[in-house]
Amino acid sequence: MRRVNKNERVRIALTLNGRKLAAEAEPRTLLSDFLRHSLGATGTHVGCEHGICGSCTVLIDGVAARSCLTLAVQAEGREVKTVESLAAPDGALNALQTAFRENHALQCGFCTPGIIITAHALLSEEPDADADRVREVLSGNICRCTGYISIVEAVLDARSAYRKGGGP
Ligand code: FES
Ligand code: FES
Repeated sequence: MRRVNKNERVRIALTLNGRKLAAEAEPRTLLSDFLRHSLGATGTHVGCEHGICGSCTVLIDGVAARSCLTLAVQAEGREVKTVESLAAPDGALNALQTAFRENHALQCGFCTPGIIITAHALLSEEPDADADRVREVLSGNICRCTGYISIVEAVLDARSAYRKGGGP
């Protein structure tokens, strides 16, 4: 196996929100920084950079993951989805995004992309999740503004659309 100098830039190719893309980065580059700075996917937010706040959550091959704890090189050949993947091409919001808006489930919005991606992963697998399950799954996402009540209500409201296959 070839040793890579830590300052050497390597080409990383992945599928981002359905598009095959590639860019160069240092082997130590975080996936969160790669998405935002190299690929322009700024919907992914970066808060703590320590795996605590959940703001940077993305889907990697369909599984919710902290992009601040993932190296960009680890995403080589993977399918990555960010919050930008959820709305329709014409800009129409998906069921979760609509429910967040209707339930006033965000204030500053900094945590929102990570929370919506986490909730999307949950409802895609468990569209009948109850309030306790929603709280359990969202316990890894920190929101400083809302008090969570409206967030949980929004996720519960979106369940019916996911039961019908309404999530992208
Ligand atoms: S920025 Fe990744 S968990 Fe906080
Ligand atoms: S809406 Fe401000 S941190 Fe959640």
